Amino acid sequence: MAALPALAALAVGFIAAADAPPEPAAVDPARYEDAQRLGLDELISAGRRKFQEPRSLRNDIEGVWGLGPTFNEVSCPQCHPNNGRSAAPGDGREVERGMVIRLSVAGTTSEGGPTPHPHYGDQLQNRAIAGRVPREGQAFVTYREREMRFADGESIMLREPQVTFKNLQFGELGGEAMISARTAPMLFGLGLLEAVPEDAILALARQQRGHAISGKPNYVWDVEAGKTVLGRFGWKATQPSVLQQVAAALLNDIGATSVLFPVDNCPAVQTLCRSDPTTTDCGGVNGGCTGNLIAEVLPSRLRTLTLYIQSLQIPPRPAVLTPQQWQRGEQLFIQAQCAQCHVPELETGDAVAIPALARVSVRAYTDLLLHDMGEDLADSRPDFQADGREWRTAPLWGVGLLPQLNGHSDLLHDGRARNITEAILWHGGEAELSRAAFQRMPKTEREALVSFVAAL
Ligand code: HEC
Ligand code: HEC
Repeated sequence: MAALPALAALAVGFIAAADAPPEPAAVDPARYEDAQRLGLDELISAGRRKFQEPRSLRNDIEGVWGLGPTFNEVSCPQCHPNNGRSAAPGDGREVERGMVIRLSVAGTTSEGGPTPHPHYGDQLQNRAIAGRVPREGQAFVTYREREMRFADGESIMLREPQVTFKNLQFGELGGEAMISARTAPMLFGLGLLEAVPEDAILALARQQRGHAISGKPNYVWDVEAGKTVLGRFGWKATQPSVLQQVAAALLNDIGATSVLFPVDNCPAVQTLCRSDPTTTDCGGVNGGCTGNLIAEVLPSRLRTLTLYIQSLQIPPRPAVLTPQQWQRGEQLFIQAQCAQCHVPELETGDAVAIPALARVSVRAYTDLLLHDMGEDLADSRPDFQADGREWRTAPLWGVGLLPQLNGHSDLLHDGRARNITEAILWHGGEAELSRAAFQRMPKTEREALVSFVAAL
């Protein structure tokens, strides 16, 4: 774990790496209230502290007010340790520390999103303010083994997760409920992905149209703009911006309201949740002491937190491959059509949150589009334009850093794959031919391809 301090320091290093010192004026002062008195570097380090701080109850002097009434964890790093990624729960273990369960029922909201479950909302919160509000319930994951064979006769066991629920406080979920288990992804490089111009992403969708591999953009609700826009973040590209993703994390995962999401997450049947002082006193559902909604997370805090996430640079590639090995791996990656979805290179435009992000090459290995990945990976839960079989092409950069960064190598939206080989073997749908090509490769080629992916 010796490399961790270096990775954690990258936020500030990113700025230092720019040719000229960035000018604070490049940060729109109206969006960052503190910008008048703080420089960009200082705003980012402030955001970094806010990322790490645990949130607590109002009367708790340690920590920052704004937790619950229901929640999953109390801070960002509990799910994104070292700005990285959470592991999947072990067999029979509770869903916590990074994995969350999204819930919905049939139909869409007026904004086009999934209809939250009437009793549990759109995410199961397994924790709540002790002694005052009931937690919603608990989810557990068990695995079924499934054998896969390579053409050369070697076989491998995959594990297929199943989610079960216990201690549900507001009745059974019901047969209508749609359930999606998601692990917490890495947080590096998102400022760059945000800065890829929409036109470039739509151009990829146009190029792919009519082919066997044909991705589509998600269109989602932008709360601040009050309209439907291109989605980029989350496993189904359901969040349009880092800002909104961060605000949604604060609300859904920690229970902290903000200007974007001022109302606590308490469905009507959860009366104690709705009437708890953290919800009603000075903010939350009923407005509280002033009659106005006062969000728990101040706008300046939300902005610096967002800026911190936008500043996180992807850690440098480990130089583990010789140029020949790199070339061979890349060739196999292209031959197996991986690069059709995992597009090696994009470029950012000029509309950026941080000057250093403008006009740079982004080697993220994604097209940011949704693809049908087949029945095995399907969660059967539509989310805006994404149907139950579609997922956003996961960026591959940094995938090989996981063991060092987080002590595991669990991949895919629910962490079911325990390594890169397993992740490829779960590919189906539009990626069926890629998977078949991989299965046919002799062992030396499979290894060459996997080492290449681990080096991206
Ligand atoms: C309870 C666990 C949990 C906590 C706490 C949590 N996250 Fe996450 N985070 C997730 C999961 C799960 C996803 C994937 C969501 C999805 O795709 O539906 C995610 C996704 C994200 C993404 C999008 C990443 C991408 O590649 O698209 C960002 C950014 C993010 N979280 C930031 C934060 C910040 C900032 C905080 C603290 C305010 C935070 N998260 C707290 C679990 C968590
Ligand atoms: C049709 C588009 C498509 C093709 C072709 C494709 N992938 Fe993927 N890939 C995806 C999507 C979408 C995901 C996310 C799926 C999920 O999480 O359920 C993904 C996930 C992955 C992951 C896990 C990443 C993570 O962060 O969890 C790896 C590794 C991967 N792909 C490698 C490959 C390789 C190697 C090939 C070629 C053999 C390939 N993919 C071909 C779309 C594609």
